[in-house]
Amino acid sequence: MSKQKVSRNQKRMEKYLTPALGWDVEFTVDKAEGSYVTCEFGKTYLDWSSGTAVNITGHRHPKVIEAVKKQLDTLVHSGCVYQYDSLLDLCERLEKVTPGDIGMFFFSNSGAEAVEGCMKAAKFVSERNAIISYRGAFHGRTMGCVSVTTSNSKYTKHYTPLASIYRALYPHCYRCPLGLELKTCDIACFKQFEAITKYEVPKEDVAAVLIEPIQGEGGYVVPPKEYMQMLRKWCDDNKVFLIFDEVQSGVARTGKWFAADHFGVTPDLLAIAKGVASGFPLSVVAGRPSIMKKWLAGAHGTTFGGSPVSCAAACATIDLIEKEKLLAKALKNSVKMLKCFNDLKDKYKFIGDIRGVGYMLAIEFADKNKNPDKAKCEEFLAKCLENGLIMIGCGADGNIVRILPAVTSTDAEIEEGLAIIEKTMKQIAK
Ligand SMILES: Cc1ncc(COP(=O)(O)O)c(C=O)c1O
Repeated sequence: MSKQKVSRNQKRMEKYLTPALGWDVEFTVDKAEGSYVTCEFGKTYLDWSSGTAVNITGHRHPKVIEAVKKQLDTLVHSGCVYQYDSLLDLCERLEKVTPGDIGMFFFSNSGAEAVEGCMKAAKFVSERNAIISYRGAFHGRTMGCVSVTTSNSKYTKHYTPLASIYRALYPHCYRCPLGLELKTCDIACFKQFEAITKYEVPKEDVAAVLIEPIQGEGGYVVPPKEYMQMLRKWCDDNKVFLIFDEVQSGVARTGKWFAADHFGVTPDLLAIAKGVASGFPLSVVAGRPSIMKKWLAGAHGTTFGGSPVSCAAACATIDLIEKEKLLAKALKNSVKMLKCFNDLKDKYKFIGDIRGVGYMLAIEFADKNKNPDKAKCEEFLAKCLENGLIMIGCGADGNIVRILPAVTSTDAEIEEGLAIIEKTMKQIAK
């Protein structure tokens, strides 16, 4: 977008919307379809933000819209007063696609609610209070969720006191908190995790360990498989629940139904949101029936959670991903994308790291000493926008770009996005 053009909504945005919430681009969208959005100035963009990792089947997929329209003609809201089919239809589908024996559910609206729900279920059922979470985690913005969020200190400013939480170091191999190399480290960071229950809180008081199996907002960090398996064993040995926050990484985003599937680890409780209903508000606390059955009546609740319309959208989303074999397609295309990004890394000194799985990929801008290069990252995002590609950033240093195509992207759309990224890298290298 040329800088001179001012959105028709700019004045209303400034007048009515608190600046607490930031926006990524300064234009109004008049139409969105599939992988593209068309703005008020007539320009069409390829959307690799997917509305912050939500539009997993693109914008307004015809099958999703058809299911929603059908539901609109029968029941829009129940408020947990009467039963409806779309809710149970969704449970049957979720039981099939969630890892291991996860098979009982509580529905809410946002990612934060799902994470809060998992923490409440873990505390209620274990009758313990402590939660261990991870440095760099983003779990949402309610008071409970900011207590476990450390992807950036801005999220907790002036909000203390927070819930009592213990923090482990996330296994981040590019920026190893212990300064070690994966080849020789013997997963030394797991010892720091174990030390928490030696020095800070007894194991018997820990209700759950809460972790993003792939860290999102914190920087698209993929931990070593061994770490996740060690964590599962530790939780089993100590009768502590393992909660996976898959609000961002779940529902096909990584080319598998859940990131858990990449590690061969089944959590006890799983927070699902974002992509699950292709843009309609829905989140899920998913758990092992042995745990969920003990979360007794009155221990939690909702008015809008599990809306009939959102459930219909979620059923259509899961059916579509399954029928069109979109998981395999995302995994296949991501190999091509990673190769392209790694070639760019070899060429341009300002690219420090390439990482991610499936369609949850990231480019980190940093020099050879790993000093974050926020300015280059911002220049890259702005130029990509000019070149017709919308992407968003992440990471506490603002130097990481996330790449989030819809799983319904055609091969031609993937090529188009890669070509824009290659062209833009060349421009910013000058
Ligand atoms: C991993 C993770 N957990 C929780 C949340 C919070 O979700 P919501 O903004 O829907 O409350 C997010 C949002 O980005 C997230 O990425």
